[in-house]
Amino acid sequence: MTKTHYEEAVSYLRNRGIQHAETGIVLGTGLGWLTKYIAIEQLIEYTDIPHFPEATVEMHKGKLIYGKIGDKKVLAMQGRFHYYEGYSMQQITFPIRVMRLLGIQHLLLSNAAGGLNLQYKKGDLILISDHINLLPDNPLIGRNNNEFGPRFPDMSQPYSAELASRLLRISLEENIPLKQGVYVSVAGPNLETRAEYRFLRMIGADVVGMSTVPEVIVANHMSLPCAAISVVTDECDPDNLQPISIEEIIEVAAKADQKLSLLFKKLIEKL
Ligand code: HPA
Repeated sequence: MTKTHYEEAVSYLRNRGIQHAETGIVLGTGLGWLTKYIAIEQLIEYTDIPHFPEATVEMHKGKLIYGKIGDKKVLAMQGRFHYYEGYSMQQITFPIRVMRLLGIQHLLLSNAAGGLNLQYKKGDLILISDHINLLPDNPLIGRNNNEFGPRFPDMSQPYSAELASRLLRISLEENIPLKQGVYVSVAGPNLETRAEYRFLRMIGADVVGMSTVPEVIVANHMSLPCAAISVVTDECDPDNLQPISIEEIIEVAAKADQKLSLLFKKLIEKL
């Protein structure tokens, strides 16, 4: 991805009426309820945006939604790009860079994840406090673009403490339980073996998924504060592992979607 690619995507979106956005949102698998809170001004198919990755079968409905939550301008990605679909890390994170160039000051992400911490139950919401990147790649590999950020970005606090404390406060006010934990990203697309779940727990992870970390790395590269919440869609107990299907994952995510969306909505209104 070169400077021209970013400029062409940004100028296309500006021409479509997206002059300025304040908060960027990435909605995970089965998690679209938040869009109901958006007073939509523009709905743009990914396929129409120059240099956005080409859609795969799974991604046929990907769209960028621009509008208002309260008096805040938001840009929401309905559908994200995953490494297992065959995209490069630069492609996966291209939309994050583009949203930043359109002005976003915060990035909120959601995902469906497996619960490694056995205190978590299906449907629980987990605020990601830190992460472990086990993807075999990194979006910052290659020549560094100094206009975006430094060669060696600091990762001592990849998730904004300020956004986290606000979300925790909102969760108390709204009576929506929100736990905290470490997210580990794996490539997928297969789910893990029992031995792998045991290993991931041992290295200090509480939830496991196939997304989010590339976007968060790029956000940190650009000094863009971010917050991310996982929905626990399956309980990954190596000693009592039940088979899990993508249909079940989507079903469980959908059940928790309203609670998660309310947390994000309340946060955005106050930003
Ligand atoms: N592993 C990896 N990714 C996932 C899982 C899991 O168990 N559940 C939802 N996404």
